[in-house]
Amino acid sequence: MHPPVSKILVINDERLVLRELIKGLNSAARNLDNPCGIVFSGVTTAQEALRAIDNDGDIQAVVVDDTLYTLNSDRNGSRTLQMSALNLVQNITRFRPELNVYILIAQEQEDQVVDALFTEAVDGYFYREERDYRGMYRILNAQIQEKARTPFYDQLKTYVLMAKDAWHTPGHSSGDSLRGSPWVSDFHEFIGEHVFDADLSVSVPMLDSLMEPKGVIAEAQTIAAKAFGARRTFFATNGTSTANKVIFQTLLAPGEKLLLDRNCHKSVHHGVVLSGAHPIYLDASVNRKYGVYGPVSKATLLAAIAKHPDAQALILTSCTYDGLRYDLPPIIAAAHAKGIKVIIDEAWYGFARFHPAFRPTALDAGADYATQSTHKVLSAFSQASMIHVNDPTFNEHLFRENFNMHTSTSPQYTMIASLDVARKQAVMEGYKLLARTLQLAKEVRTQINATEAFRVLELDDLLPAEVSQDKIQLDPTKVTVDISRCGYTVEELQQELFDRYNIQVEKSTFNTLTLLLTVGTTRSKVSRLYDALMRIAREGRAPRRLYQTPDLPAFSRLRYLPRDAFYCGGEPLPLVDERDHVNRALNGRVSADQIVPYPPGIPVLVPGQVITAEIMQYLLGLLRAQRRTELHGIVYDGYLPCVRVLKAAEEQDLNRLRR
Ligand SMILES: Cc1ncc(COP(=O)(O)O)c(C=O)c1O
Repeated sequence: MHPPVSKILVINDERLVLRELIKGLNSAARNLDNPCGIVFSGVTTAQEALRAIDNDGDIQAVVVDDTLYTLNSDRNGSRTLQMSALNLVQNITRFRPELNVYILIAQEQEDQVVDALFTEAVDGYFYREERDYRGMYRILNAQIQEKARTPFYDQLKTYVLMAKDAWHTPGHSSGDSLRGSPWVSDFHEFIGEHVFDADLSVSVPMLDSLMEPKGVIAEAQTIAAKAFGARRTFFATNGTSTANKVIFQTLLAPGEKLLLDRNCHKSVHHGVVLSGAHPIYLDASVNRKYGVYGPVSKATLLAAIAKHPDAQALILTSCTYDGLRYDLPPIIAAAHAKGIKVIIDEAWYGFARFHPAFRPTALDAGADYATQSTHKVLSAFSQASMIHVNDPTFNEHLFRENFNMHTSTSPQYTMIASLDVARKQAVMEGYKLLARTLQLAKEVRTQINATEAFRVLELDDLLPAEVSQDKIQLDPTKVTVDISRCGYTVEELQQELFDRYNIQVEKSTFNTLTLLLTVGTTRSKVSRLYDALMRIAREGRAPRRLYQTPDLPAFSRLRYLPRDAFYCGGEPLPLVDERDHVNRALNGRVSADQIVPYPPGIPVLVPGQVITAEIMQYLLGLLRAQRRTELHGIVYDGYLPCVRVLKAAEEQDLNRLRR
């Protein structure tokens, strides 16, 4: 393993001064403690500086001279301003907000410079004339070490190495219950001793409490908030599924309106039931050719915001599983103009802050809350997510109560440590790793298309027509491949890739496979994928027609709040009658459950929704189709598929929603 390298770029337009600065600073770096591998290099122009920051992911900090002049080639050697320090700092921090920025100032201009840069992300100032290179180095070194710190993980490691006798939970007691067992010691060996040593509990006070963080967890969350550009960040150990529910229960009292994409993740729909919110469903756009559901159109969103100014919150998924990303700023501005809070489910976009190709993030765009599955796209363990808060009227007490309601009193400590470490990695080398991932994503596209039997769907292919003018962008790390020309069905192809080529993909629809590239994608994996797809392509099977997925039935209407309907006992009614036709007795009844076909994963019925003939036909069509679709929420009476509906007496006790 290579030791880390941290480059610090000094920008000063006078070559001799620059040379002396670099020499002095590098000498300090060589002679003083230097765990982050700091080395200094210099450039004389703002353009060179921006180019270096773009090209070199090892740059961790910049030291900018407060004035940068260009020596003109005219006879009297006059100088003109290249770019003000303010402009340069703005450019740098917009491009790579994780960099530390220091300003070199001339003593006589101190007030002017500090005033001008006050609101910018400047970490500090040095007086040029002092030439205190060791002092400067110590400060820069301390700053970089601070970013690289993992307070929770460090403490966990320290505790484990202290090897205390455990008289507390968990019951395996640092693995002691397993180690000597003739029956289960293999589990201990396979999983690894540190997993057990580090599986601790709230009984260890020096590890802080996730439910009331005041020590190392609080510190780790504060550092994460700075890294992700949030006012506050909370670690969630039950995924973004729980994060979404916590926010709903904080923002929405029963009966209050929530605007939501009908295509939101099921945790959002579960959150509607738990919070008692009154959902206003917005229809996702659909690309019928490939059966891909996309964002809600801007026109639909703006109209819904205008029509429901009394809504408390709006939630959208950005980017979607397929990588489609909203043009968020105007949508968020419109919601804020009506006092509606905006929650963005960034389950698939937690890395976006760390490379300009992916920004603006939801928080950059002004969202009040962003939930991120750090585990999906960065290096955290499964279930480890973050909730970022920028809500100016954040009710911390209510949030905490709801957070604790959903959080185990025995959270996995290694999961918390993995969030701390994933944040460190994102800050220290996220830019570099994401630049590589982007490069690999480009290569994957070229190689897949070169097979001629597979084709990567680009933004224009994926975008439903109704959102083609909505400035939607595609996250290139999600690669959706049209497989219809390879001659295999999607199930056969997935099986072939798995059995013969040891490849497991992220997800599929009837016509597509989606590959997920992350900071962990390697060039060898890319080559193996290319080899597998090329071999399959060379089999020369006859292409298939694209499978046309049936259109989702239109949303009928909500008669009761989902929570009220869900908690009714209800009764199961079969989808078919004795003659095997659609059971007309269901028509006009109200569903008590959420019925979700997967794919596409969008609820066809939610609790409280009126059942229509169109919906029944659709469900029956799926049940009878040759291709098996999972149908979550259907109850079986023996072999008979049923929907749980409200009884007439139960309906009488409920308040109908006004249309
Ligand atoms: C859009 C979206 N939101 C939330 C989640 C839930 O995330 P987690 O698996 O972290 O609970 C998912 C999971 O797939 C998702 O796709």
